[in-house]
Amino acid sequence: MTTVDASPSAGAALLFPPGFRWGTATAAYQIEGAAGLDGRGPSIWDTFSHTPGKVLGGDTGDTAADHYHRMAEDVGLMSRLGVSDYRFSVAWPRVQPTGRGPAAQRGLDFYRRLVDALLEAGIRPVATLYHWDLPQELEDRGGWPERGTAERFAEYAGLVAQALGDRVASWTTLNEPWCAAFLGYAAGVHAPGRIEPAAALRAAHHLNLAHGLGVRALRAQLPRSAEVSLTLNLHAVRPLTDAAPDRDAARRIDAVGNRIFLDPVFHGRLPPDLVGDTAALTDWSFVRDGDLAAAREPLDWLGVNYYSPTVVAAAGPGEPAAERAPSPWPGAEGRVRFLPAPGPRTEMDWPVDPDGLYELLARLREELPGVPLVITENGAAYADRVGPDGEVADPQRIAYLRRHLESVHRAIADGADVRGYFVWSLLDNFEWAYGYGKRFGIVHVDFATQRRTPKDSARWYADVIAQGGLAP
Ligand code: FCB
Repeated sequence: MTTVDASPSAGAALLFPPGFRWGTATAAYQIEGAAGLDGRGPSIWDTFSHTPGKVLGGDTGDTAADHYHRMAEDVGLMSRLGVSDYRFSVAWPRVQPTGRGPAAQRGLDFYRRLVDALLEAGIRPVATLYHWDLPQELEDRGGWPERGTAERFAEYAGLVAQALGDRVASWTTLNEPWCAAFLGYAAGVHAPGRIEPAAALRAAHHLNLAHGLGVRALRAQLPRSAEVSLTLNLHAVRPLTDAAPDRDAARRIDAVGNRIFLDPVFHGRLPPDLVGDTAALTDWSFVRDGDLAAAREPLDWLGVNYYSPTVVAAAGPGEPAAERAPSPWPGAEGRVRFLPAPGPRTEMDWPVDPDGLYELLARLREELPGVPLVITENGAAYADRVGPDGEVADPQRIAYLRRHLESVHRAIADGADVRGYFVWSLLDNFEWAYGYGKRFGIVHVDFATQRRTPKDSARWYADVIAQGGLAP
């Protein structure tokens, strides 16, 4: 357990523990481009983004930030930032174009070159195996609602570990399985765009299973010193009032938003209240003996992605849910109202609320003692422009990052074992259903020329890293 000064004097620097990992994060489909190159097969995001009406402006990841061809330049950018770690994802359809069978050498070669460039620059690679780009052929066979997809994932994990295990020491199975299951299969706003709430619950279970089987496959190939983790977008859910109906609304969202993953992965069980809440949709008989034990493989740390909190209240009869329909919350439809949290908002219209991150870390400290935490994503989209002077001034992003790092510091001072922080994102990129309109990068990308321009926030972050924390 690391410690920092719990009550720093006003005006003092907020220093993070020695060895704290400072990183940036990206994901394959959002930056790589080269969608049809070197034998890569189609993923559900290729299909979805090429379906009219699914992504704003008809944007696709075909070219994205062209990282596939500009990888060396991008590693150079990180080297100048001074990051210790880089979190990227491996595109499953580059390694197995159809989601099964032997690994495609040319696909693996790209990641080998990336990892070698990182190691050469003194940057630790943190490889995520699944950041939402399921091979289309596996979706054609039913996708995540089918058990076979979890089995295929474990095979894929083993292949990547075999190929890169000699040089990648830090691994994450899945990124945000909540989004994969519920935005993808219940709300239909992410690939594959299905609106089948019962199937979404099956998807969530098979993602938990895929995670556990994936951990086993990784451990079977990797040296004992390798780290294995999972990244969740845990919802910092707050009831509007302390009244029992509002607290029950928060409980429902916590069940299908958080505990649906935390309980299997850390306790080997399904949340009993979730089973009750969803009884009209499923009897959960697709959960087989041994599945929950498989999901509960020991992890080296838990990755936490945080952007903003969720405020809920009980829905009165006939009251609109004040949320997009169809709902990504099976078992909570018609029972829960989502309310806008107060305060300033980012370009995503997400509230800026650093206390939510503190609350989440404090909760995890209580509920998962002994599990180290890493903030694997945090950041903000703003409408950044390259000014006439060639610079990108993004003071709001600097303020956002600073305030969230203050929350992380406070959580550590109060005993949370937080080992690192990754800014989302290194580069402006393909922001899923929002396309290229939402810029999360600390480096600006002009998508017409692919020119990279570090924003003011990049220089600010480099200073934070160099100082090991926040200047007064
Ligand atoms: C997270 C995703 C990441 C990015 C950010 C803004 O949910 O993991 O790919 O889109 O949101």
